[in-house]
Amino acid sequence: MDRKEFLSQLGLDTAGLVLFGCMGGCKKDTVPAAPSGTWTLDLTNSANASLLTPGGYVYTNGIIVAQTKAGNYIAVSQYCTHEGVTITFEAAANDFYCPRHGSVFSTTGTITTGPASSPLKQYTVTKTGNTLVITG
Ligand code: FES
Repeated sequence: MDRKEFLSQLGLDTAGLVLFGCMGGCKKDTVPAAPSGTWTLDLTNSANASLLTPGGYVYTNGIIVAQTKAGNYIAVSQYCTHEGVTITFEAAANDFYCPRHGSVFSTTGTITTGPASSPLKQYTVTKTGNTLVITG
């Protein structure tokens, strides 16, 4: 039995399948609130190894922490303010990018390109020895 025969036996045609698929997935995602507090990251922990390389980044506690190509540590809230999708750090462009609709945020979380209309929360990152302290 091929896919078309299977769907036909279920009583679903292509239009029905699209409608069925959208019933739970076509609404906007909620945007998790940006966390507040103080966190530490151990740079000797293998889970944080990508932070040892310029351009590397990790996610922790709803925050994305990155090392810029210039070697500075930065952190902003992890979820795009448009629809809550996890953003990435783009070292070459030195910005944060949302893969869902293309919003771009600066290293301080300000909006460079929409459709997002609210900035990301920026956190302070200080490095002491092999420890990063993230506060915000
Ligand atoms: S969810 Fe990020 S731009 Fe739409």
